[in-house]
Order: sequence, then C-alpha cells, then structure tokens
Amino acid sequence: MSSKEELIKRLNTAMAWELAGVIQYMQAAVMVTGYEREIFREFFHESSEEARDHAEALGEKIAVLGGIPTVEPATIRQAADVQGMLEAALALEEDALQAWEAAHEVAGAANNGTLYWIEEHVAEEQDHVDHLRKLTGKVTFAAGDIKKGKGTTA
Ligand SMILES: [Fe+2]
Ligand SMILES: [Fe+2]
Repeated sequence: MSSKEELIKRLNTAMAWELAGVIQYMQAAVMVTGYEREIFREFFHESSEEARDHAEALGEKIAVLGGIPTVEPATIRQAADVQGMLEAALALEEDALQAWEAAHEVAGAANNGTLYWIEEHVAEEQDHVDHLRKLTGKVTFAAGDIKKGKGTTA
C-alpha cells in the first residue's frame, strides 16, 4: 500500500467515527429527557452538526486525494440516560481523536496544507475529549492544594 493510500485509509477511519458521531449525538439529542434536557439537548444537537461538518471536510479531503469517502459509520454507542450518553460521547471522542492522530502520523504523504489541517482537527478533538472528561467527572483535583481564603470555614 502506498503512503498516500495509507493516508486515505486513515482519513476514512476518522470519517467513519465522525459519521458515527452524527448519528450517536442526534439520537442523544432527541432522547435526552428530564431537566437535563434543557442543558444537553442543544449540546448533543450541536455536536451532531459539528460531526457532520467534520465528516464532510474529511470526505472532501479524501476525494481530492483520489480516494472514495466512506458511507459506513463506525460503532454507534447508545444510552437512555444522560450520564450514559455523556460516557458514550467521551468514548466516541476518544476513538475519533485516535483516528485523527493516526492520520496525522502519515499526513506527510499529501502536502503541508493537509498536515496542518489535520493538526487543527487533532487539537479540536482533544478539546472535545477534555470537555467530556470534565462533564463526566473524570478529572480529580488535589483538594489539599486549594487555598482557603479569610473567612472560609470549611
Ligand atoms: Fe470531529
Ligand atoms: Fe469531536
């Protein structure tokens, strides 16, 4: 397999994760109930639209490289409750980030513009992972390092 074919293959893997995101986030947006709906419906809706834009951008890039953009989404994770939806979103974003990073490793097979374009997306997907790690309570702070101000009783 030529290095360009390898790049196309890896971009298609990233595209499959973005297509999965379109569907997974859309399902979450329409299914989220309870008060959380006020907060998370829009978040899931916008995440679905963003994944669609990313999938299309990947498709454009794959096509200009002479590849056939995939129409098959990767694994779609489902959940009926908000916590489960957010955990599923985190897993999706981690998989998408890994796919973008894998494409980055071989991006030199195309041109500098493609390399920088992929780099920007790696940064963006890392932001999504970071945000969802916070949303799902995965971050632990060293509580002892919090400075207590005057008048603090705790
Ligand atoms: Fe994305
Ligand atoms: Fe993302």
